Amino acid sequence: MKYNQFKAMVITIASLPLGFSITYGAEQTSPNGKIRVHADVINGVPTYSIDFKGQEIIKPSTLGFELADGPDMMNGFKLMDVKTSSFDETWQPVWGENSNIRNHYNELHLCMDQPEHYRKMDLRFRIYNDGVGFRYEFPNNGVMTYFIIKEEKTQFAMTGDHKAWWIAGDYDTQEYDYTESRLSEIRDLMASSIYPNASQEQFSPTGVQTSLQLKTDDGVYLNLHEAALVDYSCMHLNLDDTSMVFTSWLTPDAQGNKGHHQTPCKSPWRTIMITDNACDILASNLILNLNEPCKYEDTSWIKPIKYVGVWWEMIGGGKPWDYTSDLPSVRLDSPDYSNAKPHGNHPANNENVKKYIDFAAEHGFDQVLVEGWNVGWEDWFGHSKDFVFDFVTPYPDFDIEMLNDYAHSKGVRLMMHHETSGSVRNYERHMAKAYDLMDKYGYNAVKSGYVGNMIPRGEHHYGQWLVNHYLYAVTEAAKHHIMVNAHEAVRPTGLCRTYPNLVGNESARGTEYEAFAGNKPSHTTVLPFTRLQGGPMDYTPGIFEMDMSKVDPNNNGHVNSTLARQLALYVTMYSPIQMAADVPEVYNKYMDAFQFIKDVPVDWDESKYLAAEPGKYIVAARREKGGKDWYVGCTSGEDGYEASLSLDFLEPGKNYMATIYEDAKDAHYLTNPQAYSISTKKVNSKTKLNMKAAPGGGYAISIKQL
Ligand code: NOJ
Ligand code: CA
Repeated sequence: MKYNQFKAMVITIASLPLGFSITYGAEQTSPNGKIRVHADVINGVPTYSIDFKGQEIIKPSTLGFELADGPDMMNGFKLMDVKTSSFDETWQPVWGENSNIRNHYNELHLCMDQPEHYRKMDLRFRIYNDGVGFRYEFPNNGVMTYFIIKEEKTQFAMTGDHKAWWIAGDYDTQEYDYTESRLSEIRDLMASSIYPNASQEQFSPTGVQTSLQLKTDDGVYLNLHEAALVDYSCMHLNLDDTSMVFTSWLTPDAQGNKGHHQTPCKSPWRTIMITDNACDILASNLILNLNEPCKYEDTSWIKPIKYVGVWWEMIGGGKPWDYTSDLPSVRLDSPDYSNAKPHGNHPANNENVKKYIDFAAEHGFDQVLVEGWNVGWEDWFGHSKDFVFDFVTPYPDFDIEMLNDYAHSKGVRLMMHHETSGSVRNYERHMAKAYDLMDKYGYNAVKSGYVGNMIPRGEHHYGQWLVNHYLYAVTEAAKHHIMVNAHEAVRPTGLCRTYPNLVGNESARGTEYEAFAGNKPSHTTVLPFTRLQGGPMDYTPGIFEMDMSKVDPNNNGHVNSTLARQLALYVTMYSPIQMAADVPEVYNKYMDAFQFIKDVPVDWDESKYLAAEPGKYIVAARREKGGKDWYVGCTSGEDGYEASLSLDFLEPGKNYMATIYEDAKDAHYLTNPQAYSISTKKVNSKTKLNMKAAPGGGYAISIKQL
């Protein structure tokens, strides 16, 4: 049977509820034949369903749009044409988990008319061995030119009350802990004390964010997300918990509309990963493959970054970003700080920054992030938020020229910081000058941030307007050969393939929460299944002091992780930008463990996921870019994880020296997080190691070829 051939014959699905059956006009399978998409226009309504290994995994689900400025695109469609094709190519990312990525799919393309309104709409499905992507396309037929989306109505009909790892729907933050529950439990759990949050605009009692990880009772892992979110609102999912049908729910703009579009245009891809092996979800390249190839001709300036920063002492240590709490009388155009009284506790000062530069140079880090270097922090929460930062005026104790020269003389760069405070109009106004300043002093990477409510007022972090802004900031940065790591921006959807200077995002609950609220010990076993599906996260691992009162006597926080697990995160949480987030004084106490952070690469030729279960454990192994050495990381949840680790991924016949950084026998994330042991062992591809991660623990291994 040829799977990649469009079947002209009509397929009858007999296994539908209530004894009725649907006849589909079109179908297409994955290259290996295991996933099959059926699609058609049924009684005028575009509809699809998906089988996995002969079993229905997505029940008949309808597709369409409600429009704000005209008749809906929900029904009255006619199927005019069906086209099929296949594609198979291998491409090389600028940076990544693997140096080669295979993009292999069969395509099914439905062309539809809505004759009553003289409109056209196409549906394009791409079926991979590990899932499906589909999108809407709106050709310009001269009749439908502009349109305003009231709501996208894409259904994902589940076959049961699956287990889910979810966070509540929200238009402005993704910085939540994940909850593991049945779909039927979401309503009650969301209503309980888990989510109420003053800044949260929760749109529905059962609305959740993507990427959403699911597991059926038959052990099938499903993941719902989107790819190539460009000029469109971010999609959330609203669950009907009687029928277990998710329907898309886009982020509104300030007027409540969900998208302004002009034909020809297309939606992002809606993605459904489907596999019965959890490791396949982690290894999937579906989202990257659905994005367009790199748009830059020259990418030689884009380089992975390992960095330290003047940061944790503010986030966890209670020190201020601002130089003075007095508001200068003259604002940013010509700041007059002569009368403002410095509070004398400002970490972004010349002496302290030099200390970090020395530390970075001594230990081989590429960059030093400095936050709180520019004026505006003293009025961050002030009334004139529209004008808070200008991104070019350093505080008096930060000598931008001297510090950059000093860093460069030691082979280190400073990393720029642009906190926009959500005042995006203000940022766009100053962006050209801000990037020029970076060029002038030799910065090539910026950490940007979008904390707080958006200006223009009423816009949301995940609406179309902001989605366009985040990409504008990236493409403008590219003109200056600047890499971008944007915090609080929309969660990524694989755009780093097309624009690889987007080296990172936060867009989820990062290590910073360990400093004030704590993360669940299982958090880092869930993020790679969810947030990381769209692209790398600047998670900022590497915290060695878990008792926050030792950092700041006023902070009673606790980092819910063992020290060995902090090392593992450099392997399990893939990112080309990785911070060693703790302060030099702490690292100096644990130089033997710090060695792993110094050694671990941030770019890879090959990655393998050896064992995984969301909420419980992840074990990953990666081979360094252009080398023969391997690095293994394991992160575990509340129960810990004990299993034999086979090193059969090593090159047969070669010997290696493994350095094993693991939890000590009595380690525990709460009671004994800093108990670790380090040992060395000669290993080869036949070696099996008995490894044990403590509760909230993990291990890291460097394996160097001899
Ligand atoms: C939130 C970011 O996630 C954090 O890293 C940063 O330090 C603060 N905003 C201030 O910009
Ligand atoms: Ca944040």
